[in-house]
Amino acid sequence: MCGIVGYTGPRQAYPVIIKGLKRLEYRGYDSSGVALLSDGNLKVYKKKGRVTELEEEVIGKNIEANIGIGHTRWATHGEPSDRNAHPHSSASGRLAIIHNGIIENYAQIKQELVKKGYSFTSDTDTEVLLNFIEDIQKNNHNSLEEALRIALKRVSGAYCILLMDQSDPTTIIAARKGSPLVIGIGKGEHFLASDASPIIEYTKEVVYVNDYELAIVKPDELILKNLGNEKITPYITKLDMELAAIEKGGYDHFMIKEIFEQPSTIYDCLRGRLDAEAGTIRMKGVEDNIEQLKNANRIMIIACGTSWHAGLVAEYIIEELCRIPVEVEYASEFRYRNPIVHKGDVIIAISQSGETADTLVALEKAKENGAFIFGIVNAVGSSIARISHAGAYTHAGPEIGVASTKAFTGQLVVLAMMALKIAKEKGTITDARHHALILELADIPEKVDAILKNAKEIEKIGQVYKNASDFLFLGRGYNFPVALEGALKLKEISYIHAEGYPAAEMKHGPIALVDENLPVVFIATKDAYHEKIVSNMQEIKARKGKIISIVTEGDEISPGLSDHYFSIPSADELLAPILTVIPLQLLSYYVGTAKGIDVDKPRNLAKSVTVE
Ligand code: M6R
Repeated sequence: MCGIVGYTGPRQAYPVIIKGLKRLEYRGYDSSGVALLSDGNLKVYKKKGRVTELEEEVIGKNIEANIGIGHTRWATHGEPSDRNAHPHSSASGRLAIIHNGIIENYAQIKQELVKKGYSFTSDTDTEVLLNFIEDIQKNNHNSLEEALRIALKRVSGAYCILLMDQSDPTTIIAARKGSPLVIGIGKGEHFLASDASPIIEYTKEVVYVNDYELAIVKPDELILKNLGNEKITPYITKLDMELAAIEKGGYDHFMIKEIFEQPSTIYDCLRGRLDAEAGTIRMKGVEDNIEQLKNANRIMIIACGTSWHAGLVAEYIIEELCRIPVEVEYASEFRYRNPIVHKGDVIIAISQSGETADTLVALEKAKENGAFIFGIVNAVGSSIARISHAGAYTHAGPEIGVASTKAFTGQLVVLAMMALKIAKEKGTITDARHHALILELADIPEKVDAILKNAKEIEKIGQVYKNASDFLFLGRGYNFPVALEGALKLKEISYIHAEGYPAAEMKHGPIALVDENLPVVFIATKDAYHEKIVSNMQEIKARKGKIISIVTEGDEISPGLSDHYFSIPSADELLAPILTVIPLQLLSYYVGTAKGIDVDKPRNLAKSVTVE
């Protein structure tokens, strides 16, 4: 959460920073700001709202500078406002800071500073941290770098910070713990950002800064140190990302672009792994650790949000194919309760961003207890990918819309392949079933493409129900987690209250909500539960609820019970969620856009939740 950009080098810093902030706006968009340093003058411009409002704010102002830092905010401490926007300046006006994260003990530090006579112009923890650093520097007469090191040893919480000192015209000092930071290495210039998207058009050589590291960044020098002031050799990696992947490419929104990318992202996820002809799957992370995986007494899956829903689907798949008990945990619950984790327990972490704070901390905790961590992550080089013992990338490419779409289907594909591999090694699947599922997987991109060709039908349904105040999503078996995902997508993107439920459980409460105004979405594809879900549809129909159903092509029963239906190609029930979720993603997109909502940046949300 919160996007951070910095630049030092021969270029004009402002355009680099603004462009970078626009790319990072998915991380937060409550307010934004820049601090620019030239001729010993530190200029800070900031504004509530989107980055475009900041651009308007600076029209006619002096933005000449070769060094600067910029921030786009997702509010934690203090409401979204001009005064709470970053950058913040220190009491003397000499230092400027931007910060992503939360300083948990800021109130105590603030009290100490207030006693010393400090006053504050914002409600933020960040301004407290900055004045704390300046106070240490003033009292101890040490360098900014040294003062920062001392301050960071006192603070608890998460941070990625960038600091500038008006008396040092070329240096940005950065530090991270728990919030991401990438440094791009150019020729005589450096770029700093929360992820690689602001950097990619300038250089592909980057350094991912680790927790408890400090970076002293000048145009032609990058020094990495730990909090003990020891130098660390920067590890330079090459970015495997193209600029086109982070642009809208003619679509109105990233979300719809990402939904429509799914035939190719799923194909990319299968490519090089699945060999349909030979009937084999290659996954190095699984192969290298197969003994551990197949002999696990249980598997725990840890994730948040949509990734947690992928975990629920995986629970059904792994238990069915591998006969290993699976528990799926919300990372935020796991990290604070006292979970039983034994040495050698297998934990699968699922995360699009690889930076979700709750998931990251839950994994650290499990790792301390000796668990084996297998990460299923989309963002290459992210924190979760790096702390995992092994893993598999989803290869969906950068996902920028706040609502997760293509990452979810990528997660399902990786999990299905992983389960098939373990089952094969464990001998819990027949060769015939194994091969049949491999062939089914190979056909998925084409089937997703076929669904997307009929997106207009979903758009019409969206128009009919755009003013509904509530929605119910019902599914059974493998499609129960898809019902949860459909409800989450609709809530996020259209602000309509929605609940996902196991269809049979509906009778135990939610059925009380049903009347002629309630749209009920049934995921009613042909599977072992089909007759049961048809009965559930009858129950809703009897109470005059409006039925929208997702059915298998050729189904002659469910459409007759529905006010609207959408047909999808048939698939093995185990893989059906990869298909059934697509119309639900489209429904949320079309309802959201019909209501005029900025679906890429829905209110109160941020793409990457790097605070707990
Ligand atoms: O990056 P992660 O997969 O760890 O993110 C987890 C959730 O924050 C995320 O899935 C969130 O629920 C999305 N906005 C859902 O669309």
